[in-house]
Amino acid sequence: MTSVRIITNPHSIVNVASVPQRSPFRYPGGKTWLVPHVRHWLASLNRRPRVFVEPFAGGAITGLTVAAENLARQVVLGELDEAVASVWQIILGEDVDWLMRRILDFEISRENVMAVLNQPARSLKEIAFHTILRNRVQRGGILAPGASLVKQGENGRGVASRWYPETLARRISAIAQMRQRISFVKGDGFRLIERYHRNTTAAFFVDPPYTAGGKKAGSRLYTHTEIDHERLFALISQALGPFMLTYDDAPEVRQLAGRFRLQVEAVPMKNTHHEVMHELVITNIGSCLDLEGERRFAAAINRQFRDATSRRNIALASRGKTDSTPSA
Ligand SMILES: C[S@@+](CC[C@H](N)C(=O)[O-])C[C@H]1O[C@@H](n2cnc3c(N)ncnc32)[C@H](O)[C@@H]1O
Repeated sequence: MTSVRIITNPHSIVNVASVPQRSPFRYPGGKTWLVPHVRHWLASLNRRPRVFVEPFAGGAITGLTVAAENLARQVVLGELDEAVASVWQIILGEDVDWLMRRILDFEISRENVMAVLNQPARSLKEIAFHTILRNRVQRGGILAPGASLVKQGENGRGVASRWYPETLARRISAIAQMRQRISFVKGDGFRLIERYHRNTTAAFFVDPPYTAGGKKAGSRLYTHTEIDHERLFALISQALGPFMLTYDDAPEVRQLAGRFRLQVEAVPMKNTHHEVMHELVITNIGSCLDLEGERRFAAAINRQFRDATSRRNIALASRGKTDSTPSA
């Protein structure tokens, strides 16, 4: 079992509203909450990566942030899911204007949604539109087979609850404008890692599908969920550049990190039910923690302890005794 460095500062739970939302997806298991920690990690490395590789991209909030904030020269996104891949292919290709127009012109209603989704998509751009639509009107943004349409939605707005055409078009346009710096590869994330892992200037952000203890609910989030995690650890550990893996906190994952002698940091986050949980961030180099913030937090706690102790000692001294434990 490996030792885990844990963030103790309750203020370091990221408020996702503070992170610019750049992805057109509302992605199950999306890592918006991790973005500030990824920024810390990249800043802790001794040089800016030339390429930032995100082989299990999904909604790609991390890669998009890296591109938009110029944290690496190039970003390479990879994804196996055909539907998700079609969105990235269209946004970064010639048909992006068609997709934006289709989104802006679509009149949202349950009938119109059913009419579109009951017809087979006949081209890549139609698959991309269907995917964006399904992501917005299906429960939890889930795109895997079996996902159902939202019923009531927020404020009883039903399928329109998460349909924001102008916002979507704006985000898509912003991504398209960065297309010189972002490339997309459809296929297996392992192969993408292999392509870059001898490159010392490539940094990897690896967020594979993972369901602790093989829980069924989690395995319904994506179409592709079967990953050989041991093989993934073995492969990424050979990378010559920096890498970050993110996982649910599970004994199996801690063991793998220990076996491959990697650093593990537990980062607090709030799940969809607003419960505080920890996610493991596993790296070969650098740190995702705001160490300065942690130091300030520890110093404040120590100050409070000292103040409480001295108040108590003053009180006890006035009664002729001393003690070193604080009263509260
Ligand atoms: C946890 S999600 C990534 C979420 C992403 N980090 C975000 O913020 O939106 C994992 C993704 O890996 C994809 N995936 C599953 N198996 C894959 C494989 N062998 N190669 C590439 N992608 C895969 C899934 O389709 C899913 O989109």
